[in-house]
Amino acid sequence: MSSVKTAIMIGDISGSAGVKAVAFGLSKLKKDYNPSIVIANAENSASGYGISKEACEQLFRFGVDVITTGNHAFECAADVGIFDQYDRLLRPDNFYSGNIGHGSCVFETDDRLKIGVVNLHAPSGIGACDSLYSVGLKTISRIRKETPIIFIDLHGEIPSQKEAFSFEVAGKATAVCGTHTHVQTLDEKIVPGGTAYITDLGMTGVQDSIIGGSIELSLQRMLTSVPIKVPPAEGDGRIMGCAIEFDGETGLALSIRRL
Ligand SMILES: [Fe+2]
Ligand SMILES: [Fe+2]
Repeated sequence: MSSVKTAIMIGDISGSAGVKAVAFGLSKLKKDYNPSIVIANAENSASGYGISKEACEQLFRFGVDVITTGNHAFECAADVGIFDQYDRLLRPDNFYSGNIGHGSCVFETDDRLKIGVVNLHAPSGIGACDSLYSVGLKTISRIRKETPIIFIDLHGEIPSQKEAFSFEVAGKATAVCGTHTHVQTLDEKIVPGGTAYITDLGMTGVQDSIIGGSIELSLQRMLTSVPIKVPPAEGDGRIMGCAIEFDGETGLALSIRRL
């Protein structure tokens, strides 16, 4: 059996259009890439703010294996208990301790491949958290006792913080993929040591929008001093993310391709 495996990582799913894009688009991606795991950031899947129980269960049903989040994780307050309910729903591991939920899991595929997934928060611009390095590296070394295959969703605003972390974990993680900005970057690469990297996976939702939000209400917010809650744009969405090939024995990345 070939040890070359593939993972798909999907950028921030925005609103019901983003969830629908996964419903309609993921089966084709699965046919094309035959991924061992699909990891999707869904911090904006509930009307742009947080993740609802309904969106979470729909995404698992549509074929997402592990859901990651970020600074908006807990904003769907009515359903926040889902973070203690589902092993495969993550919030950033370096959120302050005492929070509900957890920031990593080990997913086991049907052919018994163990794949670690870690959700982390970069330190600046999107809210306070514990140290990315002390918490993140500790979690990575704990998971490496179980499997060398580790995918990291590093949620953050600032490219240098995400890129720097990829060098720190080069050879110890299969991939570090950034999320949060909703803008897909063109800098995908294999960091020396064998870790796939991209600064941002992009946004899964309506592309004719302002980072997934309604153009009209985003503009209204920017042209006034009123902090209006901007709902996701309506229309047809599309999936953005990356397909990452890796060696199923060593966990090292072989290629990364934008979707
Ligand atoms: Fe987001
Ligand atoms: Fe975010």
